[in-house]
Amino acid sequence: MELSKLQQRICQELSDLEKSGLRRRLYPPTGIDLSSNDYLALSSHPFIKQRMAEAVLKSGCGATASRLLRGERTEFSQIEKLFATFKGTKSSLYFGSGYSANIGVLTSLLHADDLVFSDQFNHASLIDGLRLSSAKKVIFPHCNLKALKELLEKENCSGQKFLVTESLFSMDGDQAPLKEYAELCQATNTALIVDEAHAVGVYGKHGTGLIEATGTANSVFLSINPAGKALGVCGAFVAGPDWAIDYLIQFARPFIFSTAPPPSIAAALEASLSIITSEEKRRQQLLELAIYLRELLILSDIPILPGNSQIIPVILGDNGRATTVALALQQAGFDVRAIRPPTVPVGTSRLRISLNINLDQTALRQFTKTLKRIMD
Ligand SMILES: Cc1ncc(COP(=O)(O)O)c(C=O)c1O
Repeated sequence: MELSKLQQRICQELSDLEKSGLRRRLYPPTGIDLSSNDYLALSSHPFIKQRMAEAVLKSGCGATASRLLRGERTEFSQIEKLFATFKGTKSSLYFGSGYSANIGVLTSLLHADDLVFSDQFNHASLIDGLRLSSAKKVIFPHCNLKALKELLEKENCSGQKFLVTESLFSMDGDQAPLKEYAELCQATNTALIVDEAHAVGVYGKHGTGLIEATGTANSVFLSINPAGKALGVCGAFVAGPDWAIDYLIQFARPFIFSTAPPPSIAAALEASLSIITSEEKRRQQLLELAIYLRELLILSDIPILPGNSQIIPVILGDNGRATTVALALQQAGFDVRAIRPPTVPVGTSRLRISLNINLDQTALRQFTKTLKRIMD
C-alpha cells in the first residue's frame, strides 16, 4: 500500500524520535512503585475508596454538563469551601485536572499589557498556559533570585506583573525560594502564582504545602493544587481571594467549556483531606524515607540532584542510557521511569525516583544495590 503524504510525514517523525531515543511507549505499572506521585499512598486507601463508591451509587457516574449549566452539584461547592479552609484562603475552584487549572488561570488572568516572570523549569502546563496567554513573558534561570530581581527591575509594563513558579519542582525535586519571592513580590507589587502540585499534602504543619511551610500565604495571590498526586484522587483546586475565583468562573475556558468531573470525586477528595489533616505521620514517614534513600544513593556514588524532597532525580544525561537503566530496573522488579527531553533539558535525561509510604528501608536498600549494579 502506498503511504499517503501525511502518513509518510508522521512515520518519519516517529522514526526520528526512535533514533534519538525519545520515542515514548505506554507501560502499565509493574513491580515496586518508585515512580508514581501517590506519595501518601492515598490512591488505594480503603476509606477513600469506600466514600467514592458510596457516592457513585448515590449520585451516578457523570455530571452530565458543564458546571455553568446542569453539571453543578452542591458536592463541588462544599469540597471547594473545605479546600479553601484547608489552604487558608477565602475561596477555591475545582478543575478537572492540574493541567486545565494552569491553562485556565494563566489564559484568563493575564492580559496583553501584563508582564509575567516564569521559572525556566516550570511544568509544561504552566508553559502552555503562558504560551496561550497574551502577556509578555520573561523566563528566568531556575530558582535564581538575583537574576529574577534584576529582570524585575529592568522590565516594565503598563499592566500587572506576575511571578509564576512551582513550589516543589516536579522533575528536579528542589524548592523555589518562596520566602524571598514573597518579599520581592510585595516590594514590586508583583502577583505571585504558585503551583503546589508536588507539595500539597506533603509539606507544612497541616499538610497544605510549601506556602504554609514557608509562611508566605499572605503574599501569594493564587495557588494551584493538583489533587491527583499526594491527595490520591484527581483534578486540581485553585485557591485564592473570592474575587479572583469568581473571575475564573466567568473567564477560565477549561472550567467553562468542559463537562464537570464525576460528582463522586468530591466525596473521595473530602475523605482524602480528612486523612491528610488528621494523619501528620504519613508526611513525616515520606520525608524520612526521602532522607534515607538520598543518603544511600550518595554513599553509593549515584549522581542525584541535591535536595531533601520525596522526588529524587538520578541524572544520566544520555536518552538511551536513561531508557536502558529504567528498563533494567523494571526487569529487576522496580517501577522506575526514564524522563527525557522535552520534559527535562537536553543532556539531562534522568530517572525520576519518587517515593511513597508503602515503601520501607529494606526495599530502598535493595533498590540502591540493584541500581548500583546496573549502573556500574
Ligand atoms: C507542577 C505540575 N503542575 C501541574 C501538573 C498537572 O497536574 P495534573 O496531572 O492534575 O493535570 C503537574 C503534573 O504532573 C505538575 O507536575
